[in-house]
Amino acid sequence: MLREGQATAIQRADYQAPAWWIDTVDLTFDLDPAKTRVLNKMRIRRNADVPAQALRLDGDELNLARVMVNGAGTSFKMDGSQLVLENLPEGNEPVELEIFTTCTPDKNTKLMGLYVSEGTFFTQCESEGFRRITYFLDRPDVMAMYTVTLRANKDAFPVLLSNGNLVDSGDLEDGRHFAKWVDPHKKPSYLFALVAGKLVAREQKIKSRAGKDHLLQVFVRPGDLEKTEHAMNSLMHSVAWDEARFGLSLDLDRFMIVATSDFNMGAMENKGLNIFNTKYVLASQSTATDVDFANVESVVGHEYFHNWTGNRITCRDWFQLSLKEGLTVFRDQEFSMDMAGTPSARAVKRIEDVRVLRTVQFPEDAGPMAHPVRPDSYIEINNFYTVTIYEKGAEVVRMQHNLVGREGFAKGMKLYFARHDGQAVTCDDFVQAMADANPASPLAQHLEQFKRWYSQAGTPTVKAVAQYDAAAQTYTLTLSQSCAATAGQVEKQPFVIPVEMGLLGQDGSALPLQLQGDSASTLSKTLVLTQAEQTWVFSNVAQSPVPSLLRGFSAPVVLQYDFNDAELLTQLAHDSDSFNRWEAGQRLAVRYALQAIQSDAPVAANVLPAAFVHALRDVLRHPTLDAAYKDLVLALPSEAYMAEQLDVVDPQRIHAVRESMRLQLAQSLQADWAWALETYGDTGAYRPDPVSSGKRALAGSALLMLCLAAQVSGDTVWHGKAYQRFKDAGNMTDRFNALSALVHSGAELAKPALERFHTLFKNEPLVIDKWFALQAGTCDRGGNVLPAVKQLMKHPDFSLKNPNRARSLIFSYCSANPGAFHRADAAGYVFWSERVLELDAINPQVASRLARGMDRWSKLAQPYRTAAREAIARVAAKPDLSNDVREIVTRALG
Ligand code: ARG
Ligand code: ZN
Repeated sequence: MLREGQATAIQRADYQAPAWWIDTVDLTFDLDPAKTRVLNKMRIRRNADVPAQALRLDGDELNLARVMVNGAGTSFKMDGSQLVLENLPEGNEPVELEIFTTCTPDKNTKLMGLYVSEGTFFTQCESEGFRRITYFLDRPDVMAMYTVTLRANKDAFPVLLSNGNLVDSGDLEDGRHFAKWVDPHKKPSYLFALVAGKLVAREQKIKSRAGKDHLLQVFVRPGDLEKTEHAMNSLMHSVAWDEARFGLSLDLDRFMIVATSDFNMGAMENKGLNIFNTKYVLASQSTATDVDFANVESVVGHEYFHNWTGNRITCRDWFQLSLKEGLTVFRDQEFSMDMAGTPSARAVKRIEDVRVLRTVQFPEDAGPMAHPVRPDSYIEINNFYTVTIYEKGAEVVRMQHNLVGREGFAKGMKLYFARHDGQAVTCDDFVQAMADANPASPLAQHLEQFKRWYSQAGTPTVKAVAQYDAAAQTYTLTLSQSCAATAGQVEKQPFVIPVEMGLLGQDGSALPLQLQGDSASTLSKTLVLTQAEQTWVFSNVAQSPVPSLLRGFSAPVVLQYDFNDAELLTQLAHDSDSFNRWEAGQRLAVRYALQAIQSDAPVAANVLPAAFVHALRDVLRHPTLDAAYKDLVLALPSEAYMAEQLDVVDPQRIHAVRESMRLQLAQSLQADWAWALETYGDTGAYRPDPVSSGKRALAGSALLMLCLAAQVSGDTVWHGKAYQRFKDAGNMTDRFNALSALVHSGAELAKPALERFHTLFKNEPLVIDKWFALQAGTCDRGGNVLPAVKQLMKHPDFSLKNPNRARSLIFSYCSANPGAFHRADAAGYVFWSERVLELDAINPQVASRLARGMDRWSKLAQPYRTAAREAIARVAAKPDLSNDVREIVTRALG
């Protein structure tokens, strides 16, 4: 067991069933920000399946007042932060245990357990926050029935919420009142929640397919009610979608969402009482961008879908976190795609998801924090809410979906619920259900091998080699796989890798695929690579084809194939697979970028060959492609993505090359950008649907390109036009895009625009976050960003205590602006180390996220490498670091 101040690694292999069960919990809270009193009455019993043991309850920063067993006082001892009861009655009779503690919510800056945000009480219990509320078996495999009574001053805390149904409420003496809630479902402690404060709710009554009535509520602070319509619509769509796609209905009379502006993560799926970061609830056209609207929909969906995948079936232990997170991310991705509707909009969503995977998860898998989707050990579980657990976990579920088919996946989900509803289970249980429901599928055939996706870390590389025999009209494709060593895993066994593919003729048309020995042909096919190397032969191939491999990004791997430029241009112009069409453009852009980065010559103005620029123009001007898709194709790969392709990273060189490429596109396509702005720049009455969002995105990119070109030519007419668009915009997307264009191009008008923006939105915290983030994320001109960030830290609106604000300024600079952060004078690194230490004293979870920003230091070129290592070592040298930050910096230093 992990104890306070003691960084012991927890091992998955050490899992043991609990020695005691907790059947019921009856909690009474006297809520007071300075001192909240918690009476916890539990009915517990010994787990007859394990040898008799003392009861060891987890606690953290609690003041213990009293312990009673079956109504009488009892002896107990403390072991670290655990409360140990050694003399409990023997036998298997239930025992009544009563524990009385107090805690100090207004001092709780970690935002784990019970805390106060802007005068309202909130809780965050996942993973181990419940032990900061009361002593408990704070582990997900101990599930109990909860009754909760909340008592508080009625004026200050008029709304009192907890999980389940309100069964009683009323007034008490001294201006206080109470509410009693009973949750009809048993649950692990991490799904407990309470909220108490001044809130108002948007309400909606719905009828499920089964004819049951439900009340949906979205609670916010009084001024924010008009910003909740989109969240409520998203919730209604989520309910309908889960019924339609998976036959999963809402199992509660009342489903509540509550928003808080102080939250460590995005949102939390507490049973019937989801608590959200305001960022993922509040949206109005004047304060939220299209991306914000899409994020609200996807996070509302994600938390709602957890009600089945996470809450009804939960995790046996935290090593199984991806059981609920990978599956639920897969579900929210599918939800967003189904909501988007058209095949093109689906492809756009897929590309966006893959972009996140490749720019954030691939580096994680190649760095010091690499871990399997089901990790084997951790020191601080909060450090394992990672893109590997979430996004790679979702890819692993997606591969299962593709190997068993859409219908087969639905059958697998059915079997999973039939077997495990109400249980705390493992990742293995999920795959087993999928395979058992689909016995003839390649998943069932290769089940044990497929499970390596859960146990082996690292991103596999698939290398493709092809040979065309004109005389025999055969095409031979050999795929081989490998995976680099990661910490603690030197040798990797082959994975099961589904490779969806097609072949294009030289004119770009789709060629029929007929595997040797098959009688029929298809236009697309999934090859299942299971060995280190495998060969497939296609017959009746009439011409030397261009292979379109890993369509739709059918597996989370790096694909290597020796495409020549002409082949990639063919794919970019014609591939019927939208993903690979986009991917061809990205491959070309990365290829030219790497050539320029690795050359010794000064960065040229024409990094991109004319043929590629023309191909991009053809996409931009294409008569039928959607604007959102065009915008993705025209967007250059990020500096972070380019850096990942290199063994030695010179961030300034990468930045200079990418800036040069961007300017080249801005200048050589100037007339086309002007056309795009003209064509897509006015979307009329605001609706955040994918088609009009796509138009705004492309118009925003066009405006930025025009402003960048203008900055160089000295003709600032576009800056004036951008300022006009900024002033006149009817929605936040157009307004913020125009502001960004001015800021990123270094226009004179950026300053007055920023000032005006702040004045307009000074009472909108989520917009002020954007204002900070934009300035911290802008292009460095002579090292001016860091001083600006330091100055902004002194702004009256800045606070390190609010995670959203800390992320908007500090993270935007340290983790998302490599060109400004990696300074030859190391001042960026010094700033980073100071902020990590400063944050660690306030909120270790947020601090450790910032600490992750230096994960890839060992790939840096000199002088960055040495300076970065020194900065990390300075953090590591602090004696009283949190376990959170200690684990990250220790791993980083290797
Ligand atoms: N389960 C939440 C989700 O939906 C995330 C909670 C993470 N909390 C934490 N303290 N690490 O993804
Ligand atoms: Zn989740």
